[in-house]
Amino acid sequence: MVQTKDGKYVAVSANCTHEGTKLVYKLADNQFYCPLDLSRFDINGKVVAGPAQQSLTLYIIDSNFSAGTLRVHN
Ligand code: FES
Repeated sequence: MVQTKDGKYVAVSANCTHEGTKLVYKLADNQFYCPLDLSRFDINGKVVAGPAQQSLTLYIIDSNFSAGTLRVHN
């Protein structure tokens, strides 16, 4: 889960859909990127650049800031 440029919380599957490398979120680009073969995904998990061809799984986040909780689920 990351907090994007515009302050939203986003949760996607952590590993690249190409060969499973752990992804990194780049705030400057507002994208997830794979340090192994350089696939990139937007904040909704859709492929921006391959070699990955499958989207990431996007999870639902329920926030209750007055209670100080975030719940991530699918
Ligand atoms: S493992 Fe991510 S692009 Fe290959």
